[in-house]
Amino acid sequence: MNRFEYHDGQLRCEGQPLRDLAARFGTPLYVYSAETFRTHFARLAHAFGALQPRICYSVKCCPNLDILRLLAACGSGFDIVSGGELFRVLRIGTPPDRIVFAGVGKTEREIDEALAARVGLLNVESAGELELLARAAQRHAVTPDVALRIIPDVDAKTHAYTTTGTRHNKFGIPLDQAADLYRRFGASPLVRLRGLHLHIGSPVSDPERYALGIRRALQLIDTLRAEGLTVDTLDIGGGYGAHYVGDDAPSADAYAQVIVPLLADRGLRVILEPGRSIAANAGVLVTRVLYVKTSGRRRFVVVDASMNELIRPALYSAYHFIWPVDAGPRIPQDWSPNQPFDGLRRCDVVGPVCESGDFLAKGRRLPPVQPGDLLAVHTAGAYGMAMASQYNSRPRAAEVLVDGGAVRLMRRRETYEDLIAAEHVPPE
Ligand SMILES: Cc1ncc(COP(=O)(O)O)c(C=O)c1O
Repeated sequence: MNRFEYHDGQLRCEGQPLRDLAARFGTPLYVYSAETFRTHFARLAHAFGALQPRICYSVKCCPNLDILRLLAACGSGFDIVSGGELFRVLRIGTPPDRIVFAGVGKTEREIDEALAARVGLLNVESAGELELLARAAQRHAVTPDVALRIIPDVDAKTHAYTTTGTRHNKFGIPLDQAADLYRRFGASPLVRLRGLHLHIGSPVSDPERYALGIRRALQLIDTLRAEGLTVDTLDIGGGYGAHYVGDDAPSADAYAQVIVPLLADRGLRVILEPGRSIAANAGVLVTRVLYVKTSGRRRFVVVDASMNELIRPALYSAYHFIWPVDAGPRIPQDWSPNQPFDGLRRCDVVGPVCESGDFLAKGRRLPPVQPGDLLAVHTAGAYGMAMASQYNSRPRAAEVLVDGGAVRLMRRRETYEDLIAAEHVPPE
């Protein structure tokens, strides 16, 4: 489900023509639908309702403060991985018990900040981190709640760069070491071990992959409980899919059908950390065609968005559906974006950045476009603006939130001055 729909040949977000938004705020422009965020959150909450989970939106995928406020109002907590993300969620007034903090390389400063904020759960990823945390907790005179992030050794069958749950990845603690660590700190007065955390990758399109990981976690939980240790929390991470190519991702219900029976009646507080499944198709990137040119048999559509705005195609060979915002008379009225028609031309959609890896699509069939036309790059709400850079000294794009009739600029376009703002360092 998303609220980007064509009416009268115009792509609209919750009824607002993207052409008007581009004229008002310029391009490249991220446009988000508030209703789509809310609907995805509600579907997940409903699907997993039997477990009464704490849903902690994964801030990294789309961290704008307005998006965080919107999800907090839906009842979401937050999954964070840095001091910067902690700063964001505290800035919107998140109660600390709704924050879970993962991350393979937390610094001492970040641990201090988490303890000072009384973060609800620290997901620890190594023995060294737990030792450092225990010392810091003593200094702060607090007893933080902790889960151990385990390596379930499950291949999520996703891109190598976003697979996180095998023993070849840097994340988490091998099961045998996690058991020993749990025993070592189980009775510690410095930290309160509450349970386990796993996140196997992203996106995970086979719900059975979760089942494999969760069964391994449950085995360890049973062992530890049999030894008299307290284990009352299981954080099963994120990674639930989003529709990139048509309706290609399992629904929230499909994940829940596999996961809920495994965890029902286990006496566990369950935490979910969804990001992409909530944010991805709540956002599109609107870009303007600058030039169209050919080289041999290749046709290049040069647009004003680039790997600066959306690095996923360059980084993961990710597919994003791209189509003109103004579909105009060129396509039939009853057409829908998944339904190709005659007259399409194969082209590469490329950006202005000085890298051959700077493309949004390769060999894509598009209607004929000309300079000045607007294109919408779909399913760009997660890991889009969040990964934006200023490479080539290009100011970052603006972000707009559409909420019913209301349009809100939730991040202004950066200026050239923004590019050098952090370089105004006084001489020593
Ligand atoms: C620990 C953890 N939780 C949750 C997520 C969110 O994943 P997704 O956006 O695919 O739901 C990530 C993503 O990298 C993660 O590392």
